[in-house]
Amino acid sequence: MGTTMDSTADFIVIANRLPVDLERLDDGTERWKRSPGGLVSSLEPFLRSRSGAWVGWPGVADAQVEPFEETGVQLHPVQLSAQEVRDYYEGFSNGTLWPLYHDVVAPPAYHRKWWDAYVKVNQRFADATAKIAAEGATVWVQDYQLQLVPAMLREQRPDLRIGFFLHIPFPPVELFMQLPWRGEIIRGLLGADLVGFHRPGGAQNFLWLARRLLGLEPTRGAVGVRTRPGLVPVGDRLVRVGAFPISIDSAGLDTLARTREVQARAAEIRRELGNPQKILLGVDRLDYTKGIDVRLRALHELLAEERINSQDVTMIQLATPSRERVEHYQQMREDIERGVGRINGEFARVGHPAVHYLHQSVDRKELAAFFCAADVMVVTPVRDGMNLVCKEYVACRHDLGGTLVLSEFAGAAAELTSAFLVNPHDLDGVKNALQAALTVDPAEGRRRMRALRRQVLTHDVDRWARSFLEALGTQSNAT
Ligand code: ADP
Ligand code: F6P
Repeated sequence: MGTTMDSTADFIVIANRLPVDLERLDDGTERWKRSPGGLVSSLEPFLRSRSGAWVGWPGVADAQVEPFEETGVQLHPVQLSAQEVRDYYEGFSNGTLWPLYHDVVAPPAYHRKWWDAYVKVNQRFADATAKIAAEGATVWVQDYQLQLVPAMLREQRPDLRIGFFLHIPFPPVELFMQLPWRGEIIRGLLGADLVGFHRPGGAQNFLWLARRLLGLEPTRGAVGVRTRPGLVPVGDRLVRVGAFPISIDSAGLDTLARTREVQARAAEIRRELGNPQKILLGVDRLDYTKGIDVRLRALHELLAEERINSQDVTMIQLATPSRERVEHYQQMREDIERGVGRINGEFARVGHPAVHYLHQSVDRKELAAFFCAADVMVVTPVRDGMNLVCKEYVACRHDLGGTLVLSEFAGAAAELTSAFLVNPHDLDGVKNALQAALTVDPAEGRRRMRALRRQVLTHDVDRWARSFLEALGTQSNAT
């Protein structure tokens, strides 16, 4: 780790997690590793290219860590007790908001104790930031875990320019209305100068709620992508509400995928799998929104109906461990592992599993090699704010090889229209799309990949951040 520091900052990101997670090993030692999830994948390269500060939780309970600097970014840890991890993080954030905002694909639980912890922890993040923000600084609050922070921060520091971005879907109004603390959340977000969502639909839902729940008078026009933000008059302020689809460090991944090392590793992966004709790949946090079960069911039926053959087609599923103490996640893991076992039980041969399942995180180079090795990337969430994995796959395919099967219910589907788009609730549709992707004419496959790459390479994370910060009325003066 880098040097310790103590200073104020002009540009601050606040997120539930720091970009690095503290890991406590069984032998009592500690080490830092990269945090999981799309938020860190996107923001970390962006912030590294500027000199900013990041306020967040180090990922374990009761960790007392002094601020430190890491690759040019000042990290300011916020401590959570074990009880707060249970109530604020596993409870309200991931047992209430996560399922509610993802179309209630699992039932959300509403507990007053969880809400109280959410309020308390949001206040702690706001207090920590108020202490380190320079006069007039830009503060960018991230994601559903911290929706009360904008108003809490404004209360203490009206001099700050405050942006908020939601990395997950913002739900339809009828679902949001279930939340006992719905007014408080909308009020919390309206503390920002700019509230950003991935898609115009989320912005539109939010504007409607500001009118219905708080009696405000937002503009009624349609919100565009990076254009035509909605406006909400709040006292003497005007809050902007817009759509800013997030992306990845496309050029960085493209460069990495072209390296000899990654190409050699991709060839090696194919050899290790016994050089099958076709490789299907899934890469996800192990989350019930990702539709891992959907693709396993589709594969099982395709094999059972002999539409594909396990000698020719192999699937790899990489699944990063996630939120392992939350009940829905434990249940889903069991279901998925049973599904993998069932497919292998019926269709594997000795030394040749039909599905290779790794409940592990792999590093960036290894991930790029998997992307380069895979013929069909399977991304089937039942709901996803954006989904970065599909963009990462496209960025790695400079050879124009490989095809993408993508759920219509991922935010990315609005941009990646040359993918094989599927409705994950329509199993026959998913099976047909998988088969079409496996047998696509090479010229047609290249045409599709060229169009996908044009989109991903011209709409990268830098463009996302710049468009957000411009709409916020600031270009990070740390640029
Ligand atoms: P979410 O933010 O919900 O996790 P995204 O698709 O937006 O979903 O982002 C996931 C990020 O995590 C991507 O950058 C992806 O490469 C990374 N990732 C997911 N699974 C793995 C894995 N098994 N090993 C390494 N990285 C992974
Ligand atoms: O937006 C997706 C997201 O929830 C991020 O907020 C988060 O950092 C990431 O996924 C990983 O989840 P967690 O921090 O709960 O491990």
